[in-house]
Amino acid sequence: MQRLKGQKALITGASSGIGRGIAIAMAKEGAQVGINYYKNLEGAEETLKQVEANGGEGIILQANVGDPEEVEGMFKKFLDAFGTIDIMVTNAGIQKDAPFLEMDFKDWQQVLNINLSGQFLCAQFAAKEFIKRGVVKDRSKAAGKIICMSSVHDIIPWAGHINYATSKGGVMMMMKTMAQELAHHKIRVNAISPGAIKTPINEEVWQNEEKRKELLELIPYQRIGKPKDIGNTAVWLASDESDYVNGTTIYVDGCMTLYPGFIGNG
Ligand SMILES: NC(=O)c1ccc[n+]([C@@H]2O[C@H](COP(=O)([O-])OP(=O)(O)OC[C@H]3O[C@@H](n4cnc5c(N)ncnc54)[C@H](O)[C@@H]3O)[C@@H](O)[C@H]2O)c1
Repeated sequence: MQRLKGQKALITGASSGIGRGIAIAMAKEGAQVGINYYKNLEGAEETLKQVEANGGEGIILQANVGDPEEVEGMFKKFLDAFGTIDIMVTNAGIQKDAPFLEMDFKDWQQVLNINLSGQFLCAQFAAKEFIKRGVVKDRSKAAGKIICMSSVHDIIPWAGHINYATSKGGVMMMMKTMAQELAHHKIRVNAISPGAIKTPINEEVWQNEEKRKELLELIPYQRIGKPKDIGNTAVWLASDESDYVNGTTIYVDGCMTLYPGFIGNG
């Protein structure tokens, strides 16, 4: 039986990487998916192609998640197409790296705006829609599910990436506060914190054998993660199987957070 049959899921930043992995994994489990992209239409079309190849159904939605008006427009189109929303995955994110002393304020603001405020905006729109649908009679079902994309850097500081690590630390506390405020509406809010997943965001690592080896050293489980690893976790968090899981973070990181050099950092 498909675990998300008939559910409507909106996934931001689904034109590549982890977002694409989640869209495909959810579509395989019967969800209809909204594939949000910002600039990469070709990537969004590829995601849709893979969703359909897996027997799923999806629509493509352009929006900058850091812009309230564009987010509102995206929700309107999603609701026009699917009628309602069951699952919100706030996944879109960027990196603009520099050491603290050299970081440009614009880069600080842009990363915070997309990685943190963008997740806030999409989660808030989704939660309002979930609440509009009213009381859920079946106690073993949520009225809606929000999955935030965090990172192991929500607990591990990351020199040279202060804006990114700060945004993810913020995502963790935002997720927990949303879960507290929304639990009585039977809305579940959780986060996934990936370790090192092979996607375009860390392209420079995959291009450089030395850097790849260094990264692998930090992963006790000795393999780099795949978007599918995160997709499978997101499916579980969105399904009724995890109905009692609320306000928590799942680290999908091959034990990276337990790398001895990191212990005590968190
Ligand atoms: N890859 C990893 O190792 C890793 C580890 C931890 C967390 N993450 C998180 O996973 C999420 C997805 O990253 P990824 O690794 O798949 O990289 P990615 O670059 O493939 O995906 C990021 C997506 O966000 C989209 N995006 C960027 N700005 C946007 C905006 N303003 N509005 C809408 N969409 C926008 C991009 O177009 C892209 O599709 C991010 O939040 C990232 O921080 C990734």
